Amino acid sequence: MKILILGSGGREYSIGRAIKNENVEHELFFQPGNGATDNLGTNLDINNYDELADFAKENEIELTIVGPEAPLVDGVVDIFKKEGLTIFGPSKEAAQLEGSKVYMKNFLAKYNIPTARYIESDSIEDLFKFTNTLSAPIVVKADGLCGGKGVIIAQSHDEAKKAISEMLSGKSFGDAGKKVIVEEFLDGYELSMFAVCDGEDYILLPAAQDHKRLLDGDEGPNTGGMGAYAPTPLVDEELYQKVRDRIIRPTLDGMQKEGAPFEGVLFIGIMVVDGEPITLEFNVRFGDPECEILMPLMTSPLSDMFYKAATNRLGEIQVEFSKEYAVGVVMASENYPYGSSTPAEIIVDEVHHEAIAKYTHISYAGVTKDDDKLYATGGRVLVCIGLGETIKEARDRAYLRCGQVHFAGKKLRTDIAYQAL
Ligand code: AMP
Ligand code: GLY
Repeated sequence: MKILILGSGGREYSIGRAIKNENVEHELFFQPGNGATDNLGTNLDINNYDELADFAKENEIELTIVGPEAPLVDGVVDIFKKEGLTIFGPSKEAAQLEGSKVYMKNFLAKYNIPTARYIESDSIEDLFKFTNTLSAPIVVKADGLCGGKGVIIAQSHDEAKKAISEMLSGKSFGDAGKKVIVEEFLDGYELSMFAVCDGEDYILLPAAQDHKRLLDGDEGPNTGGMGAYAPTPLVDEELYQKVRDRIIRPTLDGMQKEGAPFEGVLFIGIMVVDGEPITLEFNVRFGDPECEILMPLMTSPLSDMFYKAATNRLGEIQVEFSKEYAVGVVMASENYPYGSSTPAEIIVDEVHHEAIAKYTHISYAGVTKDDDKLYATGGRVLVCIGLGETIKEARDRAYLRCGQVHFAGKKLRTDIAYQAL
């Protein structure tokens, strides 16, 4: 198949890599891709969605897979579908589950899907009034997309009110903060679950755990994610079933009733409180770095799953997963997540150890290529992934691989998967 992948991160690299590893030959295109995806296919430079759809038609692209949320919220799926192209991802309307937290919370409330008690409003009086009924910590969220920064966990009522005022005035997040959500703080452990959906049917992938904070022991600022592992032993069959019955099924049925059937990846951020799964948030795409550890656990052909999902035929296939565990450790650049960093050449040692060659690999993200050399160009640079029969084995292998990657200012957590060990 000829397949186009939208995005430039480790997530998109890992999807491309997994498709390349299938038994069948595929031709891959990335828009825009990164300095390493051009080893898997062809990087494009077409920033306009209409022009991209023209490219897809002219080049007989059979399937387009959308990685990040921004093109989804912009409506790239609607544009491609109007041209009769096959594309995997939610419509602009369905992408509001991520694009607007107000839409998401009101949807959850309407269909009785468990979530934290909340109020959404643009009135400072109403928001303050509800804040006064809660005890600290108090969670304050901006409605729109804020690059993962729109959630404040306030440690006092004063701090919560300051966050509310600064969001409403546009000072913190511009228009994304015009509406604000205040909600109760949930105390439990967090999970990421991913359902690949075709509007009606879905395939639930093994549950993962992300590590959002920059530093060991979950200290330091929030990031896009510094590492992940799956499957997590923190989930048993009963919990999976609760997520299926109480969250995924009613969400797919509800979105049909809303006239916006959900196709694509439903990423459910879950807080488990006293054994009960509560929905923290929805995203409408794979998590990054969760995608990088889930892709190597899929033993059925990935391109077929995405194609079937994009053509509303998921019910026809069975998807199998490896019995192994995967651990991914993110290596970020010096100034992440605060600012940009000076490009630094990446040197990867040659792998001699057989187990390391066989059970580890690298997914590249913030890299460019110049003269056949790879440079770390900021943000999250790459993810070292280890596979193993136990989480410990997978983690040890991932860290052995990390030791073989060198660039100036490299930064990584040393405790990924600690909650499972
Ligand atoms: P969100 O973007 O809504 O997932 O929020 C980002 C992070 O804030 C989540 O991953 C949680 O760690 C935290 N968070 C969000 N909502 C709550 C809540 N109601 N209670 C506790 N933590 C929360
Ligand atoms: N790793 C969390 C996210 O992709 O949003």
